[in-house]
Amino acid sequence: MNALRHIAIALALAVATVVGTGTVIANSADVQRASPGPHASAEHGRYLVRAGDCMSCHTADNGAPFAGGRAVPTPFGTIYSTNITPDRSTGIGDWSEDDFYRAMHEGIARDGHHLYPAFPYPWFTRISRDDVRDIKAYLDTRPAVRQVNRAPELPWPLSVRGAMAVWNGMYLDEGVYRADPAKSAQWNRGAYLVRGLGHCSACHGDKNFAGAVDKDHPLNGGFAENMYAPALTGGKRDGLGQWSEQDIVDYLGSGRNAIATAGGAMAEVVQQSTQYLSEPDRRAIAVYLKSLPAPKAHDPAGIDDETMKRGAALYLDNCEACHMRGGTGQAGAFPPLKNSSAVQAAEPDTLITAILQGDRVPATQADPTGLAMPAFADRLDDGEIAELASYIRNAWGNRAAGVDAGEVRSIRNTLRQAHH
Ligand code: HEC
Ligand code: HEC
Ligand code: HEC
Repeated sequence: MNALRHIAIALALAVATVVGTGTVIANSADVQRASPGPHASAEHGRYLVRAGDCMSCHTADNGAPFAGGRAVPTPFGTIYSTNITPDRSTGIGDWSEDDFYRAMHEGIARDGHHLYPAFPYPWFTRISRDDVRDIKAYLDTRPAVRQVNRAPELPWPLSVRGAMAVWNGMYLDEGVYRADPAKSAQWNRGAYLVRGLGHCSACHGDKNFAGAVDKDHPLNGGFAENMYAPALTGGKRDGLGQWSEQDIVDYLGSGRNAIATAGGAMAEVVQQSTQYLSEPDRRAIAVYLKSLPAPKAHDPAGIDDETMKRGAALYLDNCEACHMRGGTGQAGAFPPLKNSSAVQAAEPDTLITAILQGDRVPATQADPTGLAMPAFADRLDDGEIAELASYIRNAWGNRAAGVDAGEVRSIRNTLRQAHH
């Protein structure tokens, strides 16, 4: 998949300053159940590296695993991931455990230079010392690859790495996860994974002008590349209000369930990362997410009858064969569009992108074939897609703001550029 997936993980991207007040420091062993004890475990580290999705960012297309060089585009410029193989001259072979811990926790490299938050250290700072140690132990077992890092392409003054000290001062909430003793061990384990290694709010959170995530509402939905990552809070339309715990467990394991399928950036997250989480860890995440309250509901204006009529005709011609009459979908094959949060999300980008370029469910261990949806970019113009999207967002009991042709045009242009 394309390297743009992390466009949302912007330079300034986002601090998961999510953590609660931290008034009580609870036993961190609660959240590290799987941790094997006092000695570094490369095997446990391998598990954590998947949970943190390190490999997909640190591997270039057709490049050696973990040798870096993948372009991570941000609204500010392009940053390249670095070589984290144990090569001594170009990788991190010479780094001590403390050097590595400092990079993960403070975003500072061994020689003292500041790292850009395109590297998710604002989240990784929540990871316990033992887990960081195990991650390094695993990376140390990887083949050393000699590959020199590429310099970031950023305009002044962002090109001065020291500028990140200011950013950190404003947005970095440093420190390991502190368990909330009022909550269960399972809830805390889920919070630890979501706010730390999983860096879910990097995409599912709203970012400010500096790319930092809104710390009071970290999972209320946010842009991820050319898609919109819906809210993971309790909303009934844009959110997980209608999802059961089991729905979330299934989705993270296979990229699909009875009510939704994972496309775009989320397909890659499932494929590279969450499908490898143990069932208890996926369940812990589900328990945590289901505890998040719904944000204030917004009631959008209705769509005029003419638009609804034209949209219904376009739906019949182009979509109904698969997504069925009434938008019900077909279990196991085509996701429903009725009641769907991807469809009713605050921003229509996921729906528009799916129509323009089609979509593919990830192939996973649980489900090795990935069903595909065709692209409609060449068959429907911007006005038609806007009407169709407005209709789908308001048919069958759905309700969400309408879409105008300008929104479709701008996403079409972005997709065109990404493919060049
Ligand atoms: C969203 C993409 C992304 C993910 C996910 C990611 N990284 Fe990175 N990482 C980067 C980028 C980009 C840089 C370079 C930042 C810079 O140059 O300032 C980086 C830098 C680093 C560095 C600093 C190395 C050096 O030579 O300066 C370390 C260590 C590191 N990452 C480890 C990890 C580990 C471990 C994980 C998984 C737990 C991980 N990264 C996940 C993008 C990512
Ligand atoms: C790189 C960006 C990115 C990251 C990181 C990410 N997501 Fe997503 N996620 C998305 C996008 C985009 C969608 C919408 C996909 C679609 O509908 O096809 C999505 C959809 C979802 C959905 C379905 C929501 C719905 O209402 O349909 C769930 C659940 C979810 N993500 C959970 C998570 C969890 C848990 C994490 C962290 C472990 C996570 N995501 C990390 C981008 C991301
Ligand atoms: C040939 C069958 C087919 C047709 C025709 C089709 N789709 Fe799909 N659609 C799929 C499949 C399969 C998926 C699941 C792929 C995925 O999400 O990765 C899907 C996924 C989607 C999703 C994402 C749902 C989610 O939960 O994230 C949306 C939105 C969507 N389709 C809308 C449409 C619209 C609108 C049309 C008409 C323009 C249409 N589809 C036509 C097969 C089809």
